[in-house]
Amino acid sequence: MFIATTIEEVRKIVSDWQNEGYKVGLVPTMGFLHEGHESLIQKAVRDNEKVIVSIFVNPMQFGPKEDFSSYPRDLEHDTNICKKAGVHLVFAPDSREMYASDFCTFVDMNGLTDELCGKSREGHFRGVCTVVTKLFNITKSNRAYFGEKDAQQLAVIKRMVRDLNMDIEIIGCPTVREKDGLAKSSRNSYLSVQERKAAVILHESLKLAKSMLDSGERNAAKLRDAISNKITSQPLASIVYVSIVDSITLKSVDKIEAPILIAVSVYIGKTKLIDNFTYEKINKL
Ligand code: PAJ
Repeated sequence: MFIATTIEEVRKIVSDWQNEGYKVGLVPTMGFLHEGHESLIQKAVRDNEKVIVSIFVNPMQFGPKEDFSSYPRDLEHDTNICKKAGVHLVFAPDSREMYASDFCTFVDMNGLTDELCGKSREGHFRGVCTVVTKLFNITKSNRAYFGEKDAQQLAVIKRMVRDLNMDIEIIGCPTVREKDGLAKSSRNSYLSVQERKAAVILHESLKLAKSMLDSGERNAAKLRDAISNKITSQPLASIVYVSIVDSITLKSVDKIEAPILIAVSVYIGKTKLIDNFTYEKINKL
């Protein structure tokens, strides 16, 4: 397995692969890899002859009050996981390699980023779209893998690729969870023992909404209230948002008539966590 820190090294390796006609899969990450990331990597290894994992804590997608400097990092642990999983190249650049001091070009989006994390994290998706575009250009990959855990990010990347005619296939992968249902996340490492127990409330509130939908509830306000009440019953939790949006437009809905995305963002202590599910069975009742 190669470990590259410069764009030039990546270009050289990828150009050799392209000369051999290999298909290349990319898994973009910010590192501190867990089983969620691993599931994306395993799928990429199954689908492609060559696999690149990028590890870059992207400063541009963090707000001034967010956790960029404390974000967990462990490159040795990450490269071991990649090696075991059969990855061919880890790209782990530093910020100077990715952003020249006079960097001034950005990829941005309207509409899809108005709700959910786009609303509560100003500039976040501009940072994500810009870095992901750079990673696509640097690695010239045929396919890229993203988790449904970050549902808005997956929708945004798919739309960016469509709108800007990027020649890459985007593959969404299901959320990997702990035994009690908590979605795996690098940020779970911030939680104390007590907070870790409390964090299951995100999944439980979504399970409650799913059972209400299965029983025929179609009023979004009632679903939102039930989710919010469940979350606030946990003293360590405070809500950032509880959103019910159309799964394509990501615009808020009042009635459940088409496939929807239900997404929550919740502080557990000082740690912000997210979770979601998509509900598509609208006509099957
Ligand atoms: P990061 O949070 O490291 O996540 C990398 C990828 O792993 C994302 O596509 C994310 O959705 C996926 N992922 C995280 N937890 C998961 C889980 N429990 N199950 C399945 N997939 C999971 O998302 C980012 O990094 C960054 O925004 C990035 C796209 C790399 C751009 O900087």
